[in-house]
Amino acid sequence: METKLLDPATDPTALQQAADLLRAGQVVGIPTETVYGLGANAFDGAAVRKIFAAKGRPQDNPLIVHIADFAQLYDLCPDVPPAAKILANNFWPGPLTMIVPKNGKIPPETSAGLDTVGVRLPAHPVAREIIRLAGLPVAAPSANLSGRPSTTTAQHVLRDMDGKIPAVVEGGACTVGVESTVISLAGDVPRLLRPGGVTLEQLRAVLGEVEVDRALHEQVGEGEKVSAPGMKYRHYAPKAPVTVVLGAPDKTAAYIRAHAGARTGVLCFDDCAGAFDGLQVETFGRSDDLKAQAQLVFDRLRAFDDLDVSDIFAQCPDDRGLGLAVANRIKKAAGFRIIEAG
Ligand code: TXA
Ligand code: MG
Repeated sequence: METKLLDPATDPTALQQAADLLRAGQVVGIPTETVYGLGANAFDGAAVRKIFAAKGRPQDNPLIVHIADFAQLYDLCPDVPPAAKILANNFWPGPLTMIVPKNGKIPPETSAGLDTVGVRLPAHPVAREIIRLAGLPVAAPSANLSGRPSTTTAQHVLRDMDGKIPAVVEGGACTVGVESTVISLAGDVPRLLRPGGVTLEQLRAVLGEVEVDRALHEQVGEGEKVSAPGMKYRHYAPKAPVTVVLGAPDKTAAYIRAHAGARTGVLCFDDCAGAFDGLQVETFGRSDDLKAQAQLVFDRLRAFDDLDVSDIFAQCPDDRGLGLAVANRIKKAAGFRIIEAG
């Protein structure tokens, strides 16, 4: 199958074409402010199965359902929890997914057989307009091949999905760059399952107590039960093995310099690049610019696959604010192989 790039800047029918494909049970690459998604009609189990096939995604990993306005939540969730309204008032549209009880309209393919569903109202105008035109909730995981770094440009999506889906919609580089924050409202206390564009500090400021799932900080075994099934898989990984070096930027730069081999690649902060002369370097923003780090981290992890590197050392922000999400993605790319540089 030929994969078309639909560009609303040059083709006024691009978004309508994308919506028509969704209504016809097809899969479309869609820009959002976090990462590009692979969308399909969330109510159509057969359409959703095509997403899993295109990604090579394990069947037990549920999808996030995207809506165009808050009222659509009532089409998916029989009993909207009070905390969902608080969160929506504060963070929707935006990079936040809420796990809530689901109704019978959502097929088991979308929710991987769970009795809950993840719902998000994205901020990207192109995503919202496609969902509105389609008149359907759109199930969409990140548009990468399973295990690869997420896609933050239409070119990333074409790289992973060319020939597998009928179309990708051009929407520019994603402004957030890491996937949405996932919070479960299915238990007594709200629980953070995946850090993202809305920070833990922001969630606690409006909800009070928020628990943090242990899968954020450690590798969970294949057979183990986790709250967000997606958190147990090796993820975001370039082909070469990654090691994260934690500590102050000057200390981690010195550690990496001392331990690098001839074909070592380095993922580093802009202000540390000077320490790595002669090595293959990908920079992902200044050490004090978490927003840039989030925007760039997946693009730079992907870039290593075009370089001849035997292994990769990565610098990493600490867990404050948006740093929790950036650090989580880098640690997962490393399969939690972590060194403390003091
Ligand atoms: O920013 C994002 O969230 C992007 C864009 C496209 O919206 N989507 C995305 O989807 O990152 P995906 O499939 O790559 O990640 C969804 C995560 C997985 O870890 C999955 O296990 C978890 O959310 N999840 C989805 N539904 C869930 C549910 N009902 N219960 C627990 N975890 C759920
Ligand atoms: Mg993903």
